[in-house]
Amino acid sequence: MNDLAVVNCREVVTLAGPARARVGGEMREIGAIADGAIRVRDGRIASIGRRAEIVRGLSLDTEVIDAQGGVVLPGFVDAHTHAVFAGTRADEFERRALGATYEEIAADGGGIRATVRCTREASEKDLLDAARRRAAWFLAGGTTTIEVKSGYGLDAGSELKILRVIRALNGERRLRAVATFLGAHEVPDEYREDPDGYVEEVADEMLPQVAEEQLAEYCDVFCEPKVFGAEQARKVLLAARSCGLGLRVHADQFSADTGSLVAAELRAATADHLERTTAAGIAALARAGVQPVLLPASVYALRGARYADARAMIEAGLAVVVATDFNPGSSPTASMPMVLSLACTQMGMTPAEAITAATINAAYSLGRGREMGSLEAGKAADFAIHDCADYRDLAYFFGRDTARAVYRAGECVYLRDTDRSANRPLY
Ligand code: NIG
Ligand code: FE
Repeated sequence: MNDLAVVNCREVVTLAGPARARVGGEMREIGAIADGAIRVRDGRIASIGRRAEIVRGLSLDTEVIDAQGGVVLPGFVDAHTHAVFAGTRADEFERRALGATYEEIAADGGGIRATVRCTREASEKDLLDAARRRAAWFLAGGTTTIEVKSGYGLDAGSELKILRVIRALNGERRLRAVATFLGAHEVPDEYREDPDGYVEEVADEMLPQVAEEQLAEYCDVFCEPKVFGAEQARKVLLAARSCGLGLRVHADQFSADTGSLVAAELRAATADHLERTTAAGIAALARAGVQPVLLPASVYALRGARYADARAMIEAGLAVVVATDFNPGSSPTASMPMVLSLACTQMGMTPAEAITAATINAAYSLGRGREMGSLEAGKAADFAIHDCADYRDLAYFFGRDTARAVYRAGECVYLRDTDRSANRPLY
């Protein structure tokens, strides 16, 4: 039986609160306990509170973890990534530095289709090895759960291969991974003249196989007039719903209010990106109870000028989420601390709002809000000890990944190798 206590925390940020995603002023209420401590049993939080209360109940068998004055947070839930792919696109990164745009590179056959060519050739084992290496990048920032989309296969065999890799990654019990089928990420080379034919293939051929093998919980579509328009997105998403999958939508990244309105009409779980969404799109999302997933690192990396209007969304009562969008093209970062920095500096969120968006709200967007995203008795003991003095430092000192030790279900899954003493038992 795993029985441990975490003590000597300058503060424990619990995110305790109502059993639902947080909205409006609630996003600033993060439930920080000064000199807090946590008791974990069998992978779950047994109790949480002031150090004096927690240490009173310790037994000789309790392993005591010294947080060395660090700040403890729930593991981040990164609700939008494309973490399984082969190759890189450093060449495109260099072209963009010289002025080429993401859309120009995509129209040239680069972009998503370049990664598709590499990923189709890679074996399942090579993809898993690469994903495993990247898992350490997420953990270093304090992330314990990622949503991962397929979408770099774009044929049945390759899409299923990616989804199996996501399942295998999750099975390693290090970083939790939730799979989303994104067959409609781009029109593959062989269907350039027949995009509707590809939509049919996704809806009628791929989706039933994904559902049959239970390889994904969600389905996503890159909904853009120039990629998959409203009609095509609807077809895929309705097919996904009839197979029992939840819905997410890449919406309004490059043009206004196509994706957000489809997401609202279908009452999707999330609409992601939303850089171009207008007041009408925000109102529709609010009426339908869709959670916005904001991805400021992709705006930053694409040298974009326009970030999503997080303040208007919070004011409209939307349960905002922030995520990395980790992928080899538009957002090559796995760092949630970097995303927190961008959320505060570029979207005007407060550090508390950004942390709420990266933990409990993100967990609810993945249907896991009762299991993770806050540190409350009964929930999974997924947490990170961050090397900082104040939770605001996570967003304030930017460009550093602060996690010193990361725990998943009460097991240490990451220790920063320069500082192994963080896990030293105290007694
Ligand atoms: O969320 N916009 C579509 N999909 C990704 C980019 C994927 C890629 O460039 O490889 C995104 O930004
Ligand atoms: Fe994305």
